[in-house]
Parts: sequence; structure tokens; C-alpha cells
Amino acid sequence: MHAITRRRFAVCGVGLISALGLPNRATSAVGQTVSLSDGAVVPAVGQGSARLGQGRRPAEEEEQAMSTGLSLGMTLIDTAEVYGGGKAEQLIGRVIKDRRDQVFLVSKVWPSHATRAGIQESCSASLARLGTDHLDLYLLHWPDRVKDLAEVVETFEQLRAGGRIRRWGVSNFGVADMERLWRIPGGEHCATNQVPYSLADRKVERAVLPWCVQHRVAVMAYSPLGGEGASVLRNPTVQRIASSQGRSPAALALAWAVRSGSVIAIPESGSVSHVRENAAALTLTLGTDELRQLDEAFPA
Ligand SMILES: NC(=O)c1ccc[n+]([C@@H]2O[C@H](COP(=O)([O-])OP(=O)(O)OC[C@H]3O[C@@H](n4cnc5c(N)ncnc54)[C@H](OP(=O)(O)O)[C@@H]3O)[C@@H](O)[C@H]2O)c1
Repeated sequence: MHAITRRRFAVCGVGLISALGLPNRATSAVGQTVSLSDGAVVPAVGQGSARLGQGRRPAEEEEQAMSTGLSLGMTLIDTAEVYGGGKAEQLIGRVIKDRRDQVFLVSKVWPSHATRAGIQESCSASLARLGTDHLDLYLLHWPDRVKDLAEVVETFEQLRAGGRIRRWGVSNFGVADMERLWRIPGGEHCATNQVPYSLADRKVERAVLPWCVQHRVAVMAYSPLGGEGASVLRNPTVQRIASSQGRSPAALALAWAVRSGSVIAIPESGSVSHVRENAAALTLTLGTDELRQLDEAFPA
């Protein structure tokens, strides 16, 4: 791996692509996309679901929000068996019932289930709740408390061979975890690493993000608006830049997160109007001046 100094990464806000020789950002009819290492192409902005289907809003409203997101091109949906004890997956199942083929569906297995039998069982239960026969991507939710990572890889590969998942990845893996994974036979088939990444939390830029870029592992940015309550959107600098450009703070924050072409942001919202703002990021490219101002306000 090439050494990447912090100084080199300090220019990331403006020059992440040129600094690391990343693939050029691609666009489709619905906006920016990210290519996975096996050639699959996904939208650069998808939809999270950690708190959906749990009574925060009427279920129909949340279903309408997610359905609107799908229509606007945010066709990657991220979920997990633990979200609401399966309720998020059930809500998604209702939303995608008649449009499964339009969706790139991601779910996750919790570490305490990450044994050969546990993963098989969790995957079957997720598929049943989601009302589908396959996941497009299946992730190990956390590395901690996983007894045998080689067994996890082997089981993921078996699920892939059997067609129940199209590919697999990890979440919350640091560089040491990724290096450990790469030493396991088949570990290099890992398609993505899902980690926290937002203007307010740029920690992954130090090591995890460059490692993933160099090993062609797409990064999924969770909590891209700052997590529950979307703190990034209340930041005065974000609000000022967004309003001076006639953009929503959400579109600005998400366009920033996916600016490199290697990152997929998965904001969550149960509100149709918020989803519309988030989807606008798919077609928004930030200018050098905006990126510089954001870098100054949120140093790497
Ligand atoms: N792998 C992991 O360990 C992990 C951990 C955390 C999250 N995740 C995944 O990442 C997804 C997103 O992360 P997150 O939910 O923590 O944080 P987030 O997407 O940064 O923020 C979600 C919050 O932002 C609000 N919001 C969304 N769009 C908005 C807009 N345009 N304007 C104003 N507010 C807006 C949402 O409320 P409204 O509903 O009111 O819009 C919600 O309170 C999760 O749903 C989950 O799928 C994964």
C-alpha cells in the first residue's frame, strides 16, 4: 500500500480524486453512481432505515418517503436485522414488494449471530422479512465479538454461491480489521466497508478511506447528516453556503460526502420533503470554492 500522509489527505475536500488517483465520478440518468469492484453500479446516494418502521411517524408516511426516494433514484436501501428488531426490514419489504428489481438491497448480520449456522439463519430471516429471495449485499455489522472471521467469510461465500446474496461486505472495520480480513482466503471479495462519515466526522479520511480506495472496496458513509437529529444541517456554515447557492443544507452535505466517486452515502429519512432534498445530491457537484469553504469549516 502506498503511504498516504495526512498532508496529502488534507487536500481531500478539494482534490480527493486527483490526490489518490480515484476513478472519475460517474453519472447515470438519475445522477452520480459508484462502481463496485465486481462491476455492479449503484447510486452514490441511497437510503438508510435504522429508525424506520418503529412508530416515529405513521408507517404509511415512512413508506411513502422511501418510495419517493426510489422514484428519485436513491435505489440502494440499507437495513439490518437489528433495526427495530426486524421492523425496518418489514417496512422495506412492503415498499419494494412490486419493485424489487429496481432496488439494490443491503442488510447486515449482527456479530453475535456471526457463526456458520447463525449467519444462515439470520440471512433467511432477513430475506423473509424483506419478502425477497436474495440480497444484493450482505454485511457483517461490526467486527467486535466475532469469534471466527474466516468462518464468516466462508459462510458469506456459501450464501453467494447459493444465490441468496449477490456479494458481501463489512461495516465498522478499521484498517487493522481490513488487513486481518485480507489475510483470510476469499477475504478480498469484500465489496464494501460501511463506516461513519460526514462533514462533522471525517476520521475515516486518515486511514480507512484511503485503504479502501486502494483495495477497491467501496465505502458506504453512514450518518452522513450527523446521525439522529441531523446536526450537520444546523451548522451555520453549511446553512450559509447552502443558502448562498440556492441549495438545501442536506443536498450540500450529501454531495460533499460522495464527492470522490468512491463513497455511497445512505441518509435516512421518514419524511417525503427531506427525501426530496437528499435525492437532489445525486445531481449536485460542488464547486472548488464551496469545497474549500467546507474544508475550512470542517478541517480534515
Ligand atoms: N453500520 C452501522 O453501524 C450503522 C450505524 C448507523 C447508521 N447506519 C445506517 O446509516 C443510515 C443513516 O445514518 P443515521 O440514520 O444514523 O444518520 P443520518 O442519515 O445522518 O441522519 C438521520 C437523521 O437526519 C434527518 N434527516 C434526513 N434527511 C433530512 C433532511 N433533508 N433535512 C433534515 N433532516 C433530515 C432524519 O430525520 P427525518 O426522518 O425527520 O428526516 C434523521 O433524524 C441508518 O439509517 C442506517 O441505515 C449504519
